[in-house]
Amino acid sequence: MPSILDRFRLDGQTVAITGASSGFGHHFAGVLAAAGARVILGARRVEKIEERVEEIRAAGGEALGLPLDVVDRASLANFLDAAWEAMGSLDVFIQNAGVEAGAKTYLTIEEEDWDRVLDTNLKSVWLGAKLYTERVISADQSRGNIVNIGSITSYRHVKGQFPYAVSKAGLTKATEILALEGARYGIRVNALAPGYILTDVSRVLLEGPGSEEFAKRIPQRRYGEFEDLDGPLLLLTSDASTYMTGSTIVVDGGHICAEL
Ligand SMILES: NC(=O)c1ccc[n+]([C@@H]2O[C@H](COP(=O)([O-])OP(=O)(O)OC[C@H]3O[C@@H](n4cnc5c(N)ncnc54)[C@H](OP(=O)(O)O)[C@@H]3O)[C@@H](O)[C@H]2O)c1
Repeated sequence: MPSILDRFRLDGQTVAITGASSGFGHHFAGVLAAAGARVILGARRVEKIEERVEEIRAAGGEALGLPLDVVDRASLANFLDAAWEAMGSLDVFIQNAGVEAGAKTYLTIEEEDWDRVLDTNLKSVWLGAKLYTERVISADQSRGNIVNIGSITSYRHVKGQFPYAVSKAGLTKATEILALEGARYGIRVNALAPGYILTDVSRVLLEGPGSEEFAKRIPQRRYGEFEDLDGPLLLLTSDASTYMTGSTIVVDGGHICAEL
């Protein structure tokens, strides 16, 4: 039996990450490669993906970049097929791609905002899980691991994040049902729900006029850093969490415990 610290290693494992051209996905790729994984990065901005792949290779890691648009079923299928073909297996699939609609309420969003956010953040999570599971079954892999990137907006809200929060609440529920139904194929499904960390998705709020006051409502009184996600990410992607499925881990400095 490997030691508990060894169980956090990802040597020989292949991990595909959606939305790896910036923000969390870009960071995750480096963390997972450093833990020994062979990483496959997908997103629409292929030049950014290629830059990241080069950085990871230069640091001694194994990485591959592929074009991916998660709202396009054929693109998702091609991504998974190409990842499998290049690596021979796909042990972990991290569904991280996400968008927000800007500071809009239910009254001010338009149908296209709703469709873009729900299609990217939620429908793709179902479709990605379905396409991944089909390939786990046909490859006779008999085990798989899906990690969905949720958000604390699944539990608590601020005005102006209507479709985004709805999509993330749906993702939490989807994670539980995918876990329930995926277990018979040896697939476990968990989610990571970060609090606020500065990226393009959170920029409107975190660089807006009320940002300092907003941070004071977080019990730890600061926004998160990418590195705050590393421990929970390695737990969920590795064999250190083999008895976990259907769970969502919140990483938010206590934000959802803030007093009313
Ligand atoms: N930052 C936060 O405070 C925070 C908190 C909780 C949860 N999250 C979640 O974390 C995840 C990553 O977001 P982030 O904060 O790192 O923001 P980000 O820097 O804007 O990253 C979003 C990523 O998603 C990709 N993406 C968007 N639409 C896509 C599509 N149709 N197909 C493929 N990739 C697509 C983008 O790549 P391309 O544009 O190149 O395709 C980009 O790589 C999202 O699910 C977000 O909701 C963020």
